[in-house]
Amino acid sequence: MSYHRHVSIITGASSGIGEALAYELAGQGAYLALGARRIDQLETVAAKCRTLGGKAIAVACDVSQQADCERLVGQTVAEYGRVDTLVNNAGITMWSRFASLKDPALIDQIMQVNFLGAVYCTYYALPHLKQSRGHIANISSMADKIITPGSTGYVASKHAMESFYESLRAEIADDGVTITMFYLGFIDTGFAGRMLDAEGKASGGISQQLAGTKQMSPADSARLIATATLARRRTVYTPVSGLPGWLFPWLKLLAPRWLERIGKRFMDEGGI
Ligand SMILES: NC(=O)c1ccc[n+]([C@@H]2O[C@H](COP(=O)([O-])OP(=O)(O)OC[C@H]3O[C@@H](n4cnc5c(N)ncnc54)[C@H](OP(=O)(O)O)[C@@H]3O)[C@@H](O)[C@H]2O)c1
Repeated sequence: MSYHRHVSIITGASSGIGEALAYELAGQGAYLALGARRIDQLETVAAKCRTLGGKAIAVACDVSQQADCERLVGQTVAEYGRVDTLVNNAGITMWSRFASLKDPALIDQIMQVNFLGAVYCTYYALPHLKQSRGHIANISSMADKIITPGSTGYVASKHAMESFYESLRAEIADDGVTITMFYLGFIDTGFAGRMLDAEGKASGGISQQLAGTKQMSPADSARLIATATLARRRTVYTPVSGLPGWLFPWLKLLAPRWLERIGKRFMDEGGI
């Protein structure tokens, strides 16, 4: 198996991990449908994908809008005739204590993009994925596996994803459609600096706190996602603070107060 002529939809491909993944797959000859809101950036990414040896279309898509997700899948099928892989990558995050939020609707916004955006794309792609016996790759976060005060809406959205796809995996197993959950640690995309603050505006987030911290490069994360997706792995963790990611669900079970203290210290140092 390779990505040669493999049809992949990638949401959130205008920057960061999604952009790097688009280049990784394009370099292997993939046929790509790229979705995000910033169409100019997306067109630039698609053009670069074509120079790397892949095919690519850019589709303006706000994943929180069901009709946009339907259009993203529809345009993919119109262009390439099938869908082999859906990568649910589009995401936003927050950095604020819950009680400090100016409006709790920020939590709705994060759930709409991170959770429902993935659900909508999956809904429209699923009939095509069943035909191709394809695959769904979900980009979640190690934040869901550690205890992360200051990110209530973000971790809730990623946790909702986990439960949803655990259930769906069993429903679609007989159709040959498989699912990988990626629990990523810090990736050097600037995501941590675009966190939405108590006012719902992009702030400096935790970028100061991460300065000097070893983060995985977007290109390395893209290679990891590409390889594990093709291998149809069930779950992939990346390390956090030098510890293997798979250890954290066990630590949460066995030493939740210890993890909570570390998370609280991180939040207090972040000054929110
Ligand atoms: N970087 C990390 O440390 C890290 C760690 C763990 C997990 N992750 C996850 O990785 C994913 C990608 O993050 P990243 O680090 O690559 O950040 P990023 O560079 O900010 O990329 C986020 C992408 O999501 C898109 N997006 C945001 N809202 C959208 C919407 N409503 N509709 C469609 N697309 C939307 C953005 O495009 P537009 O603005 O053009 O719409 C952008 O392409 C996220 O799901 C994040 O939770 C990141």
